[in-house]
Amino acid sequence: MNAAQLTNLLSSMNTEEKLAQLTQLNPVCFGFPCFTPLTGPDSGLRIPEKYNASIGSVLNCDNAKDMLYIQKEHLKQDPHKIPLLFMADIIHGFKTIFPIPLALGCSFSPEHVEETCRIAALESAASGIHVTFSPMADLVRDPRWGRVMESFGEDPHLNASLCASSVRGYQGDDISMPDRIAACVKHFAAYGAPEGGREYNTVDLSYGILQDTYLPAYRAAIDAGAKLVMSSFNIVDRVPATGNKHLLQNILRMNWQFKGPVISDFNSVGELINHGVARDEKEAAALSFAAGVDIEMMSPHYCNHLAKLLETDSGLTEDMLDTAVMRILELKNELGLFEHPCKDADCTREAQVHLSAGNRSIARHIAADCAVLLKNENVLPLPNPTQYCPGTAKPIGLTGPFAASPYVLGGWSAGSTEGISLYEGLCNQYPASGICYKDCGALGSWLEGTPDIPLPTQDFIDAFNDCDTVIVAAGENQNDTGEGGSKAFLRLSPHQESLIQQLKANKKQVVVILFSARPLEIAPILSDCDALLQAWFLGTESGNALTDLLIGAVNPSGRLSMSFPYTVGQIPVYYNHFQTGRPCTQQGGSNRYLSRYLDCPVQPLFCFGYGLSYSEFSYTDFYIRREDSLSASVTVTNCSHSAGTETVQLYIQDIHAPIVRPVKELKGFQRIFLEAGASQTVSFPITRELLSYHRTDTLLFEPGAFNIQIGKNSEETLSETIMIDESTFAKEQL
Ligand code: GLC
Repeated sequence: MNAAQLTNLLSSMNTEEKLAQLTQLNPVCFGFPCFTPLTGPDSGLRIPEKYNASIGSVLNCDNAKDMLYIQKEHLKQDPHKIPLLFMADIIHGFKTIFPIPLALGCSFSPEHVEETCRIAALESAASGIHVTFSPMADLVRDPRWGRVMESFGEDPHLNASLCASSVRGYQGDDISMPDRIAACVKHFAAYGAPEGGREYNTVDLSYGILQDTYLPAYRAAIDAGAKLVMSSFNIVDRVPATGNKHLLQNILRMNWQFKGPVISDFNSVGELINHGVARDEKEAAALSFAAGVDIEMMSPHYCNHLAKLLETDSGLTEDMLDTAVMRILELKNELGLFEHPCKDADCTREAQVHLSAGNRSIARHIAADCAVLLKNENVLPLPNPTQYCPGTAKPIGLTGPFAASPYVLGGWSAGSTEGISLYEGLCNQYPASGICYKDCGALGSWLEGTPDIPLPTQDFIDAFNDCDTVIVAAGENQNDTGEGGSKAFLRLSPHQESLIQQLKANKKQVVVILFSARPLEIAPILSDCDALLQAWFLGTESGNALTDLLIGAVNPSGRLSMSFPYTVGQIPVYYNHFQTGRPCTQQGGSNRYLSRYLDCPVQPLFCFGYGLSYSEFSYTDFYIRREDSLSASVTVTNCSHSAGTETVQLYIQDIHAPIVRPVKELKGFQRIFLEAGASQTVSFPITRELLSYHRTDTLLFEPGAFNIQIGKNSEETLSETIMIDESTFAKEQL
């Protein structure tokens, strides 16, 4: 359709039809069958029959058969033949599941992230999906919050880069093209900062921190072309985001010039009543609509109340309604739905593309780059299977609740259920006699009331007497993660800790592999580990990817996207903190009058950007170049016998400013592959924008001293302090 046709269509719709267009429901809510599980609170909601024929969009229908049926039945009854928009949560893959986003963040690879989203779009488009509620751009600093798993981590620059890549992967250049879907960036804004890490809890940030730390990733997704924005459950400056005019109008529409639809989160319109800013559903509908929420997800308040509000002097107008409806019609038009209402939905193609060998191979390759090697006392890599001689080489012990578990996909993987277990992956490489697997019992979940494995007996421990090395696959039940997965304690369950400690006490080389969707509190078991690999939840090819790493077929290259605390009492602990007036740079010491703990270090156990490799990389010849343009460079050398990938990181500190500035901020990263003994000079441009920060709503550069750092993580860097002023950049304009 062209613009004139869209305008004519809009003018032919009556108010009830327009209000239905603003409503998104699960198919069951408006009379259609659908067997896809709900992802939010059980609704049980129904809307007045008169709206059913004109509903605008559908939540969580995830297969072509249902979608084709629903779309065709809908078009028979919609008086204007306006196609339904099908939206779903495709967060880290659809049927081929990739690592959780927090793990993808550890790849520091925009290319990997874009590729996962391209495949997710291809697989989900074949099942009739038009829009994904992704990327989740919420920056996170508190691993007690279950949804850190959906974030790319604690850094604004990395978060922004990977959210932009996600949008490009889903959308390509034209969302009407086959195998492309529209991206809905969420949860706007700052849902990732709940007090205490407690789900749906209060968010209380200064405006400056909101601007400089939490908003950049949403902005990057929008600048990359994200077609929708989802408003969040939480408050921003004491006003719920879903009813927050400053957020949705001043920032999103006026400052950022976002033109697409804003959709609420699951019943977040109705929750304005719980927040206490709306007396009833009518007021909740008025507040959300006036703030700028165009689509109401999973609550009926627009349908039930906006028509009357438009007739009274509520401040809501037909123009506002037309603007909201037109945004939705334009999105449907951009997807080509008026001409092709079922777009790519195709039951045959579904079977061809879902979990294809090619998609799985890519998933395996990417997953291996997302695991992070945290400790290795020359235990890894394991003996190579090709050199493994049964009878001479001792079997490798394997146990732990995740050893043979296929439940390694991570949350928000409703499209699939099982992945390759670690045991399966090892057996794909080693002869049966090479692996001595013992089942230690399942790890239940907190809501099931069984959040531990059985206590290991000495007999169980002795079952590994023929093994020198034992792999313990430990972690947290994935049902205790994701939405509604907040925890106040982050240690491994007591019996898992005991299993590791008892095996160590039995003189075994212990390789712990951690399956978790957040940084756990692992200090209590660290000394008992001879090697420690953070496996996150790596998705469909988890077991094969981990085996590739364990046998050295792939050299670990993951770097932490989120700090690991010594203890939950340290949280929030993150690298880009402020100096304070009494900084405590050294561990402990006798001076108590510093910003420190008496019983715990200030620094995290493992810092942002940290990760080991089977190679060793040295950094030399740090150099700042001022000719033509400003840049910093370093020479990286692989001084080991193994080829490997290093993620070189650029950090910058603005040393003096009228407001406090972080002790450092990531401003660039490059993954480089180096053969054994090879060197490469890595250079980073230093631009005016990289040195700027927000004062109120404007980005400001202030001349002064800047400390430029390049290194392998946020704590180990080479650095130099230089003076930078406008003249530094004047040359660039010449
Ligand atoms: C959930 C989540 C949101 C998701 C939506 C639809 O409550 O907060 O991330 O996209 O509902 O499932």
